[in-house]
Amino acid sequence: MTDKLIIFDTTLRDGEQSPGASMTRDEKLRIARQLERLKVDVIEAGFAASSNGDFECVQAIARAVRESTICSLSRANDRDISRSAEALKDAERARIHVFIATSALHMEKKLRMTPDQVFEQAKQSVRFARNLVGDIEFSPEDGYRSDEDFLCRVLETVIAEGATTINVPDTVGYAIPELYGNFILNLRQRIPNSDKAVWSVHCHNDLGMAVANSLAGVKIGGARQVECTINGLGERAGNCSLEEIVMAVKTRKDYFGLELGIDARHILATSRMVSQTTGFVVQPNKAVVGANAFAHASGIHQDGVLKARDTYEIMRAEDVGWSHNKIVLGKLSGRNAFKQRLQELGVAMESEADINAAFARFKELADRKSEIFDEDILALVSDESVAHDNEQYSFVSLSQHSETGERPRASIVFSVNGQEVHGESDGNGPVDASLKAIETHVKSGAEMVLYSVNAISGSTESQGEVTVRLQNSGRVVNGVGADPDIVVASAKAYLSALNKLQSKADRVAAQG
Ligand code: KIV
Ligand code: ZN
Repeated sequence: MTDKLIIFDTTLRDGEQSPGASMTRDEKLRIARQLERLKVDVIEAGFAASSNGDFECVQAIARAVRESTICSLSRANDRDISRSAEALKDAERARIHVFIATSALHMEKKLRMTPDQVFEQAKQSVRFARNLVGDIEFSPEDGYRSDEDFLCRVLETVIAEGATTINVPDTVGYAIPELYGNFILNLRQRIPNSDKAVWSVHCHNDLGMAVANSLAGVKIGGARQVECTINGLGERAGNCSLEEIVMAVKTRKDYFGLELGIDARHILATSRMVSQTTGFVVQPNKAVVGANAFAHASGIHQDGVLKARDTYEIMRAEDVGWSHNKIVLGKLSGRNAFKQRLQELGVAMESEADINAAFARFKELADRKSEIFDEDILALVSDESVAHDNEQYSFVSLSQHSETGERPRASIVFSVNGQEVHGESDGNGPVDASLKAIETHVKSGAEMVLYSVNAISGSTESQGEVTVRLQNSGRVVNGVGADPDIVVASAKAYLSALNKLQSKADRVAAQG
């Protein structure tokens, strides 16, 4: 058993399964590059067989990322596995992740297969995958609720067929730390060839215990891989959060005694990138990456921290990417200072042309806002704020009028495939009027299921970051927009969500 803990990030696959969190190819590529910068060991880039779009994402990430292993999920059948192998063809290090459900409930009700059929399919698919790629992970879906004897039989066989990692998912977040840790330990002790594979934990957060369960799987069970997502993104209550696992293992090295490859200084930038891309806002009291995670509000705490930081701080904020010097740039700052700040924030720009475009947006913002914070810069360079050639709608200008006792009106100009159009409407408030003005042209028929505004840097001088979630014909998408004027931010977020609704995704769900 090695004393290194492998960090397997599944933000781009399991995280993306969260309704509304779907990302474009460019967004995924950008996040994958950031995960590589964070030195994540394995990046699960997608589920190649689920759609052509997912195939292209996995392929693009496999071509662009050289340091991390790139993984593609596959159901236990030859077609899925072949698609994964094809998408991963150009990867420096490739892994195929094969899964099939093993709990009685899933086998009978979902797969409508007998245990013997599931056993045979698991065995054949791992044999097939192993002929294509050397690094094979096998997951018995709903493993934690599976019959232990049956699980032992399946896992022993897939290891014999060449699976190199065995992942034990708590698919529905039902586990309790001690029980889950012992479950992994029992499997490892009962399966004669268990030492031929790395054992991995994959916990969902339905009872708020995904991180605790994963740590118990490591400490009690002896697992040496944790599957997790940035900000704990994922279906329902989400997955185990990467930043919490990493900082728990680093901060309590005295207890876990494990090495990690992660460069934790990139945690905050990665968290923000994922939050801004998906529109899933990070709660202020979230461990490690929440706005209050290192803020000491009470007088006693502030006094203690000023005298000696370790009175109330168990981690150093700067070790996970928080900077003390939050006001960074203003309207007189030059391109070099801007470029350097981007580097310090861990934002890599693809080309000089991208930096120039981001700098132009920065100058425009600095004309309207006297102090530019790190958060503003990150919002500015987030994929959502960049106009993409292939996008149908983009914001041009907006005016609105609201006065006590009068119904607000808005007039908006936006472009549709490069052609400017103008819309006008009244509404219950200025935001409502602006979005209705857009709809006078678009007539999307989409239903708004979430609207939220967040002050990026905490004061009324801040930019407002708006998230809009739209639902149409069974698809749910999030759009994000940032601007010092929250009505404009709302219009941008709405147009961004409409663009995502246009990009057709016809995908197969990984579970269910
Ligand atoms: O939660 C789960 O069971 C999964 C598997 C596909 C690994 O995500
Ligand atoms: Zn999962």
